[in-house]
Amino acid sequence: MATHKRSTNGHKNGNGRHGRFDPGLVLAQAQQVTTSANEIAVVAGEVSDGAEQQLRSLNDATMNLGSMTASLKESAANAESIAAATEELVSGITEMAASIDQVSAGATQVATAIAQNSAAIQQTSASIAAVSATARDMAASADNVTTAVTEMSASIRAVSRDAEGALQAVSAACTHMGCIVHWNEAERTWDCPCHGGRFTADGRRFNGPPAKDLEIIRDPTPRNGID
Ligand code: FES
Repeated sequence: MATHKRSTNGHKNGNGRHGRFDPGLVLAQAQQVTTSANEIAVVAGEVSDGAEQQLRSLNDATMNLGSMTASLKESAANAESIAAATEELVSGITEMAASIDQVSAGATQVATAIAQNSAAIQQTSASIAAVSATARDMAASADNVTTAVTEMSASIRAVSRDAEGALQAVSAACTHMGCIVHWNEAERTWDCPCHGGRFTADGRRFNGPPAKDLEIIRDPTPRNGID
């Protein structure tokens, strides 16, 4: 069995055999190690800077997300308020529509009643117009009758004899309103039965409302059937 003899410095050469201690080589290796360590430190620093930047970015993103969340909550609260206000508005509009319907129905009833009253008023107006026309016709007839009676009264003669027996004739129509005078044999006067007018035998008024004498008829001869 082969055994290895350890050198005093503990190193082997490239052939697996222990060589002499080389300080330059150790120094170079130490410098390489130092350089590598520095490079690793630089890389570690860069990694650390990148990690810090990422942390800051994450913090910023977290803050932005927080602000966004708060904003969304506020928007949600506003949306709820708007929804509640909209419901109240819809309720108010519905009540208003119901009121408008009631008013419309009332207006329709009023319009119907007015139309019925208008028709009744038109019928009444037509009836009044017919009555008015009838009254006018009756008034015209009454005028005609009055004219005829006045003419008839004027044609009636009141004839009497004086103390000497001579005939004297006057119109029998009272000069007040046309009533026919009657002979008063006791006092020998013509008396009106309507308002108390009185005239002498020759037609002169002396009592009552008549303002004029009876009309004197020049031909006192009695006429058949009239006097
Ligand atoms: S009508 Fe004769 S007094 Fe009136």
